[in-house]
Amino acid sequence: MKKVITYGTFDLLHQGHINLLRRAKALGDYLIVGVTTEEFDLARGKTNIHDSIQTRIEAVKATGYADEIIVEDYVGQKIDDIVRLGVDIFAIGSDWKGKFDYLKKYCSVVYLPRTKGISSTMLREAVKDGKNLIR
Ligand code: CTP
Repeated sequence: MKKVITYGTFDLLHQGHINLLRRAKALGDYLIVGVTTEEFDLARGKTNIHDSIQTRIEAVKATGYADEIIVEDYVGQKIDDIVRLGVDIFAIGSDWKGKFDYLKKYCSVVYLPRTKGISSTMLREAVKDGKNLIR
């Protein structure tokens, strides 16, 4: 069985996330999704996450693509997860191209195309401005 893992904040889950999860799942048989804690995101400079971790986990679950959801809450966890869970492929959007090549020591690393024209940042701005969201 080929195991794939991906990570993200998945705030205000949108079509870009859904496309990413679908493509990641299609790379193997079993998809593990790591959802970040607020603390982890704060530490990497994401200070304005809208949804709680519970809401973000539920949203990822609702896509139907994740076979397992884990929580990411410390730097260096990816290597621990990949080894512990016997992961074959690490997949992430192409906005991260090159950034996770250090994981090639542990598994294959695949950068998937990023969906154009949508991001959580855009949606957070829209929420802030009280706009009606169509996602
Ligand atoms: N992603 C994607 N296409 C988009 C937005 C995100 O493929 N339009 C992918 C990212 O590359 C990543 C995963 O979805 O692999 C989770 O990304 P995340 O950072 O949670 O979403 P963003 O919308 O990029 O969030 P932000 O605007 O806060 O950076």
